[in-house]
Amino acid sequence: MSSARAPIGVIGTGYVGLVTAAGFAELGSEVWCVDIDAEKIARLRAGEVPIYEPGLEELLAKNAERLHFSTDLADALAHARLLFVAVGTPPTYSGDADLSAVNAVIEAMPASDEHALIMKSTVPSGTGVAVKRMFDEQDKGGLAYVSCPEFLKEGSAIKDFMHPDRVVVGDVGDWAGDAVVELYKPLDAPLVRTDIASAEMVKLASNAFLATKISFINEIANVCEETGADVVEVARGMGLDDRIGPKFLQAGIGFGGSCFPKDVDALKQLAGNSGYHFQLLTSVIEVNELQKRRVIGKLQKHLSGLVGKRIALFGLAFKPNTDDMREASSLVLSARLNADGAIVAAYDPVAEEQARSLVSGISFAASPMEAARDADAVVLVTEWDEFLELDWKDVAETMSGNLVIDGRNALDADAVRAAGLVYEGVGRGGQRSIAKSGAQA
Ligand code: UGA
Repeated sequence: MSSARAPIGVIGTGYVGLVTAAGFAELGSEVWCVDIDAEKIARLRAGEVPIYEPGLEELLAKNAERLHFSTDLADALAHARLLFVAVGTPPTYSGDADLSAVNAVIEAMPASDEHALIMKSTVPSGTGVAVKRMFDEQDKGGLAYVSCPEFLKEGSAIKDFMHPDRVVVGDVGDWAGDAVVELYKPLDAPLVRTDIASAEMVKLASNAFLATKISFINEIANVCEETGADVVEVARGMGLDDRIGPKFLQAGIGFGGSCFPKDVDALKQLAGNSGYHFQLLTSVIEVNELQKRRVIGKLQKHLSGLVGKRIALFGLAFKPNTDDMREASSLVLSARLNADGAIVAAYDPVAEEQARSLVSGISFAASPMEAARDADAVVLVTEWDEFLELDWKDVAETMSGNLVIDGRNALDADAVRAAGLVYEGVGRGGQRSIAKSGAQA
């Protein structure tokens, strides 16, 4: 890679910050990472990566010489003109995005004609305009501002950074926008260069649309359960239409994570604050909340009540390949099972540590088989590969009951049934008969 690539600063060393830092270091930039969390910075300096993200540790190690970690913003300012902001924007009680960490960065910036803030954190549309106003009020009008939203998915973040579907750059047509476009050039991705408010909205609208797609297919799944259709076949048939596409049509027990629930809420609030009631998103959120709870109804139906019943949860993280437990469906599920008097044992290959601080009243197993021991029912919550490769005859032997609820439609239903177990997925009413004739898939 060319050594002439612009150095950058990255403020905030969470998922987005670390992946951005590792990615741009890989493309040849010197990267100055800043975080107010001194312990985190000390760990990063020692080569420890505080989050689980496949490939991240290796990429940081490979580019260690170009990566610098500090708690002092001055270090980044001294070396880089472009400062990527990747701090948290968690939801407030009102559902609006909490911008206090973003505001703290703006406060900390000195007056300068040389520097630009590049916003990676997901912020409400309109934030850029407000930031520019704050710069003016604080006599920092020379600072440039660019919106450059991030579209990476946890679990495949490095791949998403290196091969983005698009790069979105929202700016006022100044040097900073040009510099960000230049930085992304080696990735050869379609570029959407636009105004700041539109770039901010692209991010929120994309997440809200994907979440809508999931709630939509979940409702179709629920109708399939009533009518005898199989939602997997329905999604396959729908997805072949180019205008619909096959992705994000996997029915299950609801979406979670640090982004969809927060961003859907934030967009709904943003609209509401401007006097517009975003009715569709209200339903997307409600459908998702109900979806997390539908497993309880299925367990109750099959087990005739839950008091004293042993339930094994396979997976806890909000999706596979991450230890992230934020808004995971397992949080609602385990709390409801507890409240209904069930005895819950859970196993997750990496999220146990995170889960222990969030979930109470359940036990943690060291393997799927340990979780399933004497269980009346097994519920697949997160579709880790480890669960897809299980020998269901072994699972059946260790269980005392025979019920398997596949919350992600990810298991081989025939293999589960062949082990003498009762299989129930999400929206798989006609699954049995179609499986027989559907080999042409
Ligand atoms: C999401 C977006 O996909 C990214 O583009 C975006 O950059 C990111 O949010 C963000 O704003 O930072 P992420 O939260 O990592 O990424 O996870 P996804 O893979 O999108 O999955 C979100 C949830 O939807 C998971 O709970 C997953 O199990 C669920 N899901 C996903 C379904 O239930 N069905 C599907 O078909 C797809």
